[in-house]
Order: sequence, then C-alpha cells, then structure tokens
Amino acid sequence: MATDVQAATDAVRARLKGRVPTVAIVLGSGLGPLADQVADPLRIPYTEIPGFHVPTVPGHKGELVCGTLGGKTVLCQSGRFHAYEGHSADVTVLPVRMFGALGIGTVILTNAAGGVNPKFGPGTLMLIADHINLTGRNPLVGPQREGETRFPDMTSAYDKALKALARKVAKERGVALAEGVYMGLLGPTYETPAEVKFIATLGGDAVGMSTVLEVIAARARGMKCLGISTITNAAAGISDQELNHNEVMEVAAKVGGELGRLVEGIVAGLSA
Ligand code: HPA
Repeated sequence: MATDVQAATDAVRARLKGRVPTVAIVLGSGLGPLADQVADPLRIPYTEIPGFHVPTVPGHKGELVCGTLGGKTVLCQSGRFHAYEGHSADVTVLPVRMFGALGIGTVILTNAAGGVNPKFGPGTLMLIADHINLTGRNPLVGPQREGETRFPDMTSAYDKALKALARKVAKERGVALAEGVYMGLLGPTYETPAEVKFIATLGGDAVGMSTVLEVIAARARGMKCLGISTITNAAAGISDQELNHNEVMEVAAKVGGELGRLVEGIVAGLSA
C-alpha cells in the first residue's frame, strides 16, 4: 500500500480503539452537523492523521467522527479536501483511500451544489444519478496503486441498489428527493451564466466543486458509492441573485435535519 494511505490508515485504526466502521459518510459544506447525530461519538482530529490537512473552508471542520447511526458503526468525514484549495488529487481522495484500507465497503457522499435544472431550487435534496467530471483532474493518473483497478468501470459509479434504497427511504420518511446528474468542476469561482447554460446542455442538473474525484478513487477500490447533493442556490444566471458561500452554508444548515433523517434511514437499511 502506498505510504500516504498506510500512514493515515494506521493512525486512524489505532485511534478507533477496536471499532470497525462499515460505512463512511462524507459531509459537504455546512453539512457537518450530521456528525452530531451519531451516538457514542469518538472524534479524531485531522491534526492527528498524517497527510490530512486542516480545512481552509468555512463550514468544514477537520475531524473524523466514529459512532453509531442506524444501528451501524459509521465513520463521518467532517471536512473535505478540495482541489481548489491547491491540494493534489491524491490529497483530495486520501480519506476515501483510507476508508477502503480500513475495510469500509460503502461510502455516502454529500455535498452542497448549485441547481442547474430550473426545477431544483434552494433546499432541494438531489440523489446523484451519475456524474460528469469536468475538474480536469483524476486521482488515478500516475502509477497504479496497490488495491486499485487501472481502468475502473464507471457504469455504476453510483450504486444501483443504494440508489433504490435511498428512493425507498425517502418515500417512507416523507423526504422529497429529486434525482439528477452532478457536474464536478474545479472551482473556486462559481460559474458564469454562460457556463451554467453549457452545463445544462451537457446534461448536468447540479454543479459543484467536490465528490467526483472521491467517487473515482472509491470505485477504483471497489467501494459502493451513494451521493446526495443539497441544492443550496440556483446556479448563476438561473436567478438574478449573486452567489456567496454564506448563503450556501445557511441553506445547507436549514435542510441538514432532513438530510440527516434520510441518511440515517439509508444506513439503517444497508445489509452489511
Ligand atoms: N456552483 C458550484 N458549486 C457550488 C454552488 C454553485 O452554484 N453552490 C454550492 N456549491
């Protein structure tokens, strides 16, 4: 195993004190409070994990939280590394590679995104049906890593059974869940209205600056992925309003409870 993954995994495993998480949950901008839902939390600050950086973006905390949710032992990643912060693709996906090395088989990724589809207004929860990676990056570029497939199939980047489970839980719990294609861009600028038109033309329903690289790394290691976007704003040009990160965090916080109920139900419904 490459030393960056090994070092992070060894440090986390030592701090888990025998706990064995089976599901990882990656928390997007402003969605950190989801980690407060886990029972019996054990917190591991990023400062104690080799290769992990302290997040520079407001709304991203910088700790792993292991605890019980929906009857399973979960590991929440509260604070992401984005390529726009200047991180390499390897750093961006280090947590996901570490999840795989810990033996975690399922990754639930959440994010904040702009609504490109005019039907998806602020506060919409969108199940990620599929993604388009327009970041210009790919974490698999370079020598093939141990435990990773050289040419991963991306037909089911977002696992079919997990998507069906998410739809079922949303229905049961009365949570409105839209579905669409997530377009991952590098950022950190929000898009121009012309770029948003371009994204819509290409089949994107939502746009954001995360998730796609993590899903690629997870698939290369055979982990199953589920993605849920919180639409925090209409993408540029869809409405007249200017975009800012505070608004993104505010809306994410407002629907956080709803997202939490959905994620808890999904975790409870997982077979492993
Ligand atoms: N564009 C890109 N990323 C985002 C947006 C957006 O409109 N909203 C939240 N993250």
